[in-house]
Amino acid sequence: MYSYIINNAIEYIKELFASDFTGHDFQHTMRVYKMATVLAQKEGADIFVVKLSALLHDADDRKLSPDTCEHKDRARAFLRENEVDDETTEKICTVINQVSFKGADSVSPDTLEGKCVQDADRLDALGAVGIARAFAYGGSHHRAMYDPEIPPRPNMGEQEYFTSESTTVNHFYEKLFLLKSMMNTDTARVLAEHREQFMRDFIAEFMNEWNVQF
Ligand code: ADP
Ligand code: NI
Repeated sequence: MYSYIINNAIEYIKELFASDFTGHDFQHTMRVYKMATVLAQKEGADIFVVKLSALLHDADDRKLSPDTCEHKDRARAFLRENEVDDETTEKICTVINQVSFKGADSVSPDTLEGKCVQDADRLDALGAVGIARAFAYGGSHHRAMYDPEIPPRPNMGEQEYFTSESTTVNHFYEKLFLLKSMMNTDTARVLAEHREQFMRDFIAEFMNEWNVQF
């Protein structure tokens, strides 16, 4: 259904994120799009809304595009150009609004479509890809990988979360290990369990190597 609009969205996102190296790149969006579609099929959500919301979920992200974030101007312009009706546009913008993580104050979407896209976005911050993204993000923001002198601070509120200058390893404790318990769907919870365990094993190995006994 409407596969040309989906293809247009893929092309639009590819161009928009051509120069992003912070972890919000085109490939992140494509992984979220595929995972959200899998979750939507299992959960019986509206596939068209899920696909477009996933593809557009970072187009007006607060960190990438602070000026268009509030009203989702880019997503709306794309949907208008592709003649998506007003009701569907509102559904998609609602889903996009509910998706992003805002520290411990994060909202749980009240639509099944929102739950699928939020879970898919969060799953992409976990596992092997999640580890790679975290260090890529940390490097691009000139953060230390790890500093034993700086302890992690979990349970930060929205303001604190956005202003925190922590290390990348701390980010695992401040955000990534909190995600499993915040999954909305059972399918995502199972995947999150496996991905988190992989990350915990990685951190254990990392600490072993860091703490050389001499
Ligand atoms: P989302 O894709 O849900 O909008 P974010 O913008 O919070 O997520 O993060 C995008 C990616 O960058 C994620 O993989 C996340 O782990 C990583 N990231 C965000 N903040 C940090 C940080 N302070 N240190 C390391 N990685 C981070
Ligand atoms: Ni995202």
